[in-house]
Amino acid sequence: EEIKVFCPATIANVSCGFDVLGVALDNVGDTMVVRKTQEKGIRITKLEGQDLPMETLQNVAGVAGLALLEKSDYTGGFEIEIYKKIKAGSGIGSSAASSTGAVWAMNELLDRPFTTLELVKFSMEGERLASGVAHADNVAPALFGGFTLVRSYDPLDIIPIHTPSDLHATVIHPQIEVKTSDSRKILKTNITLADGIKQWGNVGGLIAGLFTEDYDLIGRSLEDHIVEPVRSILIPGFNQVKSEALKAGALGCGISGSGPSIFAFSKGIDTANKVATAMKEVYKNIGIDYDVHVSKIN
Ligand code: HSE
Repeated sequence: EEIKVFCPATIANVSCGFDVLGVALDNVGDTMVVRKTQEKGIRITKLEGQDLPMETLQNVAGVAGLALLEKSDYTGGFEIEIYKKIKAGSGIGSSAASSTGAVWAMNELLDRPFTTLELVKFSMEGERLASGVAHADNVAPALFGGFTLVRSYDPLDIIPIHTPSDLHATVIHPQIEVKTSDSRKILKTNITLADGIKQWGNVGGLIAGLFTEDYDLIGRSLEDHIVEPVRSILIPGFNQVKSEALKAGALGCGISGSGPSIFAFSKGIDTANKVATAMKEVYKNIGIDYDVHVSKIN
């Protein structure tokens, strides 16, 4: 018995929502084949597209899968084949795609003993392995689809957020690798009350804008006063990409997850494509290779 799954890429943080907001991209992602075995445990039997460890305990899909098996009364095991399209260290949830794909497929093969929220918890163990912190802002949207808010980590409380009907994301990945663990180390652990006030104002504004399909409000709320000023230093051309994206008509622009990918939201596919052209132009001029994706958000 086997199942083939699509594992979507995700944009975490979405500017103002560090570690709490994320959104899934339906047309960018990996595929995985998962099958039941008599043999207990998890084995990664194939890993194509990226150079990543295949040992179960070193692989995010393996670790997330073991977290599920531990809570299951199933006595057999699983074999996993991973076909990666998302580059590790690109900032669009490569590890989350693998850990969520594994647990989602296993849950299907076992006739769904677990809720989506429980699958988020298992997948977070993969994130702990990848980044040192069990953050849920990539794995939650990968499993629920669309936008999600992690309202609380303890207890875990995930809120699916409405998606406006004409919202598009443009994501550009300059070909450098930034490890999430490294880009977390440079963050300060304290923020000022003044920055907090700006940040939670924007989080509330963004959520309200998404629910009411108020594109201007979404745009005004896509600001990050805490993380972006620190992390953008690691991304060559960031300020220029952002200003060109906004000039081309984007509602807002920021770092995707821990970078180096940069995302912009636009109303309408035409604007999203113009934004893609403007972003590409910046990297062509600086001489850095890139990948670009335009996605309708569903
Ligand atoms: N919220 C996480 C971070 C996402 O920014 O470190 C990593 O993809």
